Amino acid sequence: MPLLPRTRLFILTLAIIAVPVLPLTQLIAQDRPATHLWSNSSLSPDERASMVVKEMTLDEKISLLHGTGMRGLGPLSPLAVDSNGGAGYVVAIPRLGIPGIQMSDAAYGVRSSGENGRYSTALPSDLGAAASWDTDAAYEYGALIARELRAQGYNMSLGGGVNLTREPRNGRTFEYMGEDPVLAGTMVGWVMKGEQAQHVIGDIKHYALNDQESGRNAVNVNIDKRSMRESDLLAFEIGLQVSNAAAVMCSYNRVNGDYACENKFLLMDVLKKDWNFKGFVVSDWGATHSAAKASAAGLDHEEPGEFFYGDTLKKAVKAGQVPMAEIDDHVHRILRSMFATGVIDDPPQKSVVDAARGLEVVQKIEEQSIVLLKNEHGQLPLDASKVHTIAVIGPHADVGMISGGGSAQVDPPNGNAIMPPGKGQTHWQEHIWFPTSPLKAIQVKTTGARVQYNSGSDPSAAASLAKTADVALVFAYQWESEDMDLESLSLPEHQDELIAAVAAANPHTIVVLETGGPVTMPWADRVSGILEAWYGGSRGAEAVANVLFGEVNPGGKLPLTFPRSEADLPHRNIVNPPKGTEPDGGDPGWWEKILRGLKAFQITYDEGLKVGYKWYDTEHKQVLFPFGYGLSYTTYAYSNLKVTPGKDVRVGFTVTNTGSRAGAEIGEVYATLPSSTGEPPKRLVGFRKVKLNAGESKELSVEVDPKYLSIFSVDRNAWQLVPGDYTFLVGGSSQELPLTESVNLK
Ligand code: BGC
Repeated sequence: MPLLPRTRLFILTLAIIAVPVLPLTQLIAQDRPATHLWSNSSLSPDERASMVVKEMTLDEKISLLHGTGMRGLGPLSPLAVDSNGGAGYVVAIPRLGIPGIQMSDAAYGVRSSGENGRYSTALPSDLGAAASWDTDAAYEYGALIARELRAQGYNMSLGGGVNLTREPRNGRTFEYMGEDPVLAGTMVGWVMKGEQAQHVIGDIKHYALNDQESGRNAVNVNIDKRSMRESDLLAFEIGLQVSNAAAVMCSYNRVNGDYACENKFLLMDVLKKDWNFKGFVVSDWGATHSAAKASAAGLDHEEPGEFFYGDTLKKAVKAGQVPMAEIDDHVHRILRSMFATGVIDDPPQKSVVDAARGLEVVQKIEEQSIVLLKNEHGQLPLDASKVHTIAVIGPHADVGMISGGGSAQVDPPNGNAIMPPGKGQTHWQEHIWFPTSPLKAIQVKTTGARVQYNSGSDPSAAASLAKTADVALVFAYQWESEDMDLESLSLPEHQDELIAAVAAANPHTIVVLETGGPVTMPWADRVSGILEAWYGGSRGAEAVANVLFGEVNPGGKLPLTFPRSEADLPHRNIVNPPKGTEPDGGDPGWWEKILRGLKAFQITYDEGLKVGYKWYDTEHKQVLFPFGYGLSYTTYAYSNLKVTPGKDVRVGFTVTNTGSRAGAEIGEVYATLPSSTGEPPKRLVGFRKVKLNAGESKELSVEVDPKYLSIFSVDRNAWQLVPGDYTFLVGGSSQELPLTESVNLK
């Protein structure tokens, strides 16, 4: 469901935010401090932060607790000059040598580069990166984003989406890391680690249970605490544990009655107390709904403006409704995060983005992320010397590949492939096709073959072309964006009909999917090959061509299940807000209405901890392609499972490349818990990716964190390993686990 346009949000934010009256010296950000006591970098971040807090006036403290409007108020505001043009800007405090915080969205690359006249590399979608199951690739993903953030003058990233895929029609599925908390949490953790190693503040979002976009400002998610801790929240917990990400963004929705950004259970009890989170909580843009309540619940910082965390908060402090200690804690958390991530000691210097290196890195990551779903009779890889005619079919496959929209959108180098040159800047919820041309990338590989293109708008014309070719390659897409959910999991624009028509005309039809998440495939039995390329980023087509022609052996695996139909999902239909829940976008007061809180409507996640494959396993539902699945041009065998109980259970096994090509295999380790726990049939507890030459064997070892084998006891408010028999299952897909061993754990 489309929500309100962001441009409007921006303009109205400007209208309601009072310009803070600051002395001129404060308006000129001089980020490099004179020497202060806290300049000593051998002190701990906490010591340094405490020293600064002691020196601060209340106004200075409050100024750190909110943004200045998207991109720093309007063009006439002096703050606009200091803002770097990103989604958020927090003023500097030059007197104390504290630089401003320049925040940019950066889910799969740095946003807003078009409107700021800059360059950003677009990576594969986050979900694509998760499909690599490769923590080194995830680290590189984060490091690349952070290098480009710094080159553009930012010191904080708003990426790190890790909401679990409870609802695959969620328009932001591409921005997240799939349906399993161990995979998603680990991968987002390594992305954040890569970012923070470059001295950029990392942020994990959207905490929590913002699992659909429809009615996101009003919805109240009902879910029991055990399920929450073992699924959605566990992904955040692992992500933070791996990375120490300095910021967590609370989400728009309510959870069990309270808005996430004023939800004491989420922010204080779980995040800050149980997980000992030392960083700061930033609200999603317009997700703050109170001052005193939010502050007490643990919200540290309001974005994008100061509707609650400006004068209102100051007055509440003066009136004794908000203790100064609480304010000091918020401020301390922000400052200690700035010290800990190095943004004070090593501020970003604007510089030239290393575009060539970026393109090389993103192509490699995409090559790791592509998942081969079907390859009948070894149709792939194509042999360039034997294929003489190729039909390339599909919307815009002559010029580009689709990308994901919303605040994740990256302005592609060279602009939108389907717009005239020079029109590079993207607009909210436009369909942006990255100028990476499948047609050209395929032509380059074939030297001499006749490669012809048809857009597929007329399926019978496409089928006629396919009939004349040795092989038909259909590039099918599904567009997704923030601010909308998908009506169904079907491909749009009659592409199912197109594929069926082409497949009927040519038995050598291969479908390349450019999708944000899972899609249904009524034609799956009729085509000979299927490749999932996700949103492939700036070098998507080159990566796909390398896989099609065998220069790269695909090794990605699905980070989420592809169901057979919507009827198999836990919720047959997405729950839409009742009419009138959201204020009308034309209503000048809509923004204020949202901030003051909308009437709640309910979603109950009664599938509880049965998310993704855990649902299909429990319900004995057949799926189209299971979680963890992905083929290769070689084959692998598993042997020698040895499970050694201990503090961390050690799972050892051997993987052998039994085919004739080198490749990379992802060994997946699942566990079945004792039946008394009432858990779904199995859960992922670890994985390893390994490169193997033809014929080569390697012994792998996975240390399983005891938490991954535990259940969350709400009574004890703790993870609990239930004594009993645990079965470990190992293999290359959640539904192909040839090795099993049971051990008794106490
Ligand atoms: C999105 C966030 C984003 C923020 C700033 C919000 O609408 O939900 O993910 O970081 O805007 O652009």
